[in-house]
Amino acid sequence: MPDFMNEALELARQGVGRTSPNPAVGAVVIKGDQVVGRGFHTWAGLKHAEVAALDDAGGNARGATLYVTLEPCSHQGRTAACVDKIIEAGISKIVAAMQDPNPLVSGKGFHRLGEAGIDVVMDGTYAAEAEKLNEPFVHFMKTGLPLVTVKAAVTLDGKIAAPQNNEGWITSEVARAHVQQLRHESDAILTGIGTVLNDDCLLTDRSGRERSRPLLRIVLDSQLRLPLESKLVAGVKDDLLVVGTSAASADRRRTLESRGARVLIADDPRGRTDIQAVLALLAEERYLSLMIEAGSKVNWAFLDSGLADKIFFYYAPKILGGLESLPVAGGTGRRRRADAILFRNVTIHHISDNEFAVEAYVVR
Ligand SMILES: NC(=O)c1ccc[n+]([C@@H]2O[C@H](COP(=O)([O-])OP(=O)(O)OC[C@H]3O[C@@H](n4cnc5c(N)ncnc54)[C@H](OP(=O)(O)O)[C@@H]3O)[C@@H](O)[C@H]2O)c1
Ligand SMILES: [Zn+2]
Repeated sequence: MPDFMNEALELARQGVGRTSPNPAVGAVVIKGDQVVGRGFHTWAGLKHAEVAALDDAGGNARGATLYVTLEPCSHQGRTAACVDKIIEAGISKIVAAMQDPNPLVSGKGFHRLGEAGIDVVMDGTYAAEAEKLNEPFVHFMKTGLPLVTVKAAVTLDGKIAAPQNNEGWITSEVARAHVQQLRHESDAILTGIGTVLNDDCLLTDRSGRERSRPLLRIVLDSQLRLPLESKLVAGVKDDLLVVGTSAASADRRRTLESRGARVLIADDPRGRTDIQAVLALLAEERYLSLMIEAGSKVNWAFLDSGLADKIFFYYAPKILGGLESLPVAGGTGRRRRADAILFRNVTIHHISDNEFAVEAYVVR
């Protein structure tokens, strides 16, 4: 028997980066042991994966089995509920890889299908893969906040910058292409003004792939020092958010706004920019994921506050050494070994000869 769920997952993957704030979903319609319909969701295509697969199958859907990577929706959204379409098409059996992660609707789609006499099977074989495929969506549905990943390119001794000259890159071209893929899968990206002043970074998605909406670029910049001639400002396309504090001049704010940047003023109790307020704004606007690509200070701010969910560190076969080169996380650090920030579910990714990346989740 061919592996139909695997095929549905492959279809779902084609939607990654093109569906947010919706999940990436794939579906296949099976008659006998033949695939008679295929579908996946993209924001632009509007149709949910199940409906695309049913339309593709046409009359063949009657009495057929539908494999889908996520529980079909039972509520009216921008499009009609998928369960109604499935019932209408005469599907007799449905196999799903995971339940809807939204606690408010989880299980309701299966229930409605069951009521209509459709045989509903939850196949857990690919549950982990299906969840990973929509990691930001699952996280957002469970917590109401975007998934925050601290990404960095580091030496084997955990340094991100040398004290004097930082021309060139820490990691190889292969690793940097991998980073572009991570950016493509992110809804927003954030850095600190320290990094902008040093690197004049662009922070764009250069994967060349279609996105459902522009990557939102964010700079934490208390005094609104962001230079108008920086690449970030020069390349603004309704995709730049500068976060300052009330210590910044109103004049600077107006100037940045006149150049097309959006400015958020948010002070935390210590007079720094309020990163919690940034996450709240992203959540309100349904940005499901945020990647931090910053220097020592901002990386530490996210790790220390517990607002980072995971890390993705790319390691290059180099050592910088020295007390003056910057560590991946600076700030005050933890004062006792016992207070170290702990990680679980550690995965090592092979990137290129002699390069690897560590993906790991903060222990709550
Ligand atoms: N290898 C890598 O992956 C990588 C990636 C990025 C950067 N870097 C390197 O990192 C170096 C810069 O490090 P950095 O630590 O100076 O830069 P950073 O962490 O990017 O920016 C630090 C600045 O952000 C501002 N800021 C605003 N709100 C903040 C908050 N809530 N918490 C902390 N900071 C806040 C502060 O300036 P204000 O007080 O003016 O707001 C602070 O000085 C550069 O050399 C760059 O090349 C390396
Ligand atoms: Zn649907």
